[in-house]
Amino acid sequence: METIKVGLLGLGTVGTGVAKMIFDNQEELNKKTGYAIEIIKVAVKNINKKRDIELPQAVFTDNPQEVVENPDVQIVVEVMGGLEDTKDLIIKALQNGKHVVTANKDLLAVSGQELFEVADEQKKDLMYEAAVAGAIPIVRAVKESLAADEITEVMGILNGTTNYILSKMSQEGADFADVLAEAQELGYAEADPTSDVEGYDAARKTAILASIAFSSRVTFDDVSVSGITKISARDISYAKDLGYSIKLLGVAKREDNGQIEVRVHPTFIPNDHPLAAVNGVYNAVFVKGKALGDAMFYGRGAGELPTASAVMGDVVEVIRNIRSGSNGRIGCTCYNEKNIKDVNDVVSK
Ligand code: NDP
Ligand code: HSE
Repeated sequence: METIKVGLLGLGTVGTGVAKMIFDNQEELNKKTGYAIEIIKVAVKNINKKRDIELPQAVFTDNPQEVVENPDVQIVVEVMGGLEDTKDLIIKALQNGKHVVTANKDLLAVSGQELFEVADEQKKDLMYEAAVAGAIPIVRAVKESLAADEITEVMGILNGTTNYILSKMSQEGADFADVLAEAQELGYAEADPTSDVEGYDAARKTAILASIAFSSRVTFDDVSVSGITKISARDISYAKDLGYSIKLLGVAKREDNGQIEVRVHPTFIPNDHPLAAVNGVYNAVFVKGKALGDAMFYGRGAGELPTASAVMGDVVEVIRNIRSGSNGRIGCTCYNEKNIKDVNDVVSK
């Protein structure tokens, strides 16, 4: 059986999940792709750190260039996070003829357009299912399955850490700081959890979803954001008394006049609403389409294996594209140059 050679940028929470899936699901992956998958290079910050997974010491490097410049690497999986340096690495990987799978919503929400243009030029795949709502296959659903419909709204709980915090505060009367520390320990939170609790992470995901759903370029800066740091135990208790739950929602709507509204903020949800029952690290996304009507997607929004499942789904898709010769198929089709004017029509700021 032929081998596909993968290079990992990062072996933290998500990278470890990806490596575990490559080892543990070998048979399944062979059947589904027709290839064996081998990890041949892994960039980390500290090559001497004790890891939760065993890989030959020779694959490790603390120089990410060694991954993107390695002539044998066919697919680069970027799960290290970061902005400018990481953007340069992804561009270099694409220019060096590699396909790229990333979970980096921070980067896509700011520089997605530029990256997709490079992927398109190079006819390489750049996939990012894990960047929005962890394990939930929402990117593919909106970009592909619902591509023919006119989507009018995408809305939901898009951050696992804050939902975990709000759920524990409500259900157990837990303290904000204690639950945040727990979410960090469980690998749900971002390297800097300010992104989670201030709503920036949900805003990035909302921008990405709005870009795909409305064939527009909506960036992080377009989103009006308010996080959960000002939510007190007393607010949660009042909400409960009134029959509500507080949830951090991301909302992206296209009005009939073409204007796009994108916002993230804590919201009172009546307890009989399906979103009120979405607790812990779970996320849920509602999509409204003219033909579709309503659909709701539900699943784990963060964590090692759930996120790795989305990353590996992309890896499988890339390998299938390599096999069929249809690389670059997914390129930049979600960002439509013709509609860039929509950015000026974002009304939420
Ligand atoms: P971690 O902090 O757990 O892991 C980051 C990894 O990248 C570590 O292995 C670290 O090395 C390595 N790394 C960081 N900077 C560098 C560098 N400059 N050079 C080489 N290696 C580097 O992050 P996560 O796994 O949680 O997240 C990774 C990405 O996935 C982020 O973009 C995040 O937003 C995204 N994501 C995370 C989810 C989650 O549930 N955690 C869910 C969805 C997306 P070392 O191990 O030596 O420290
Ligand atoms: N920190 C993010 C969250 C990770 O809690 O949802 C998944 O994107």
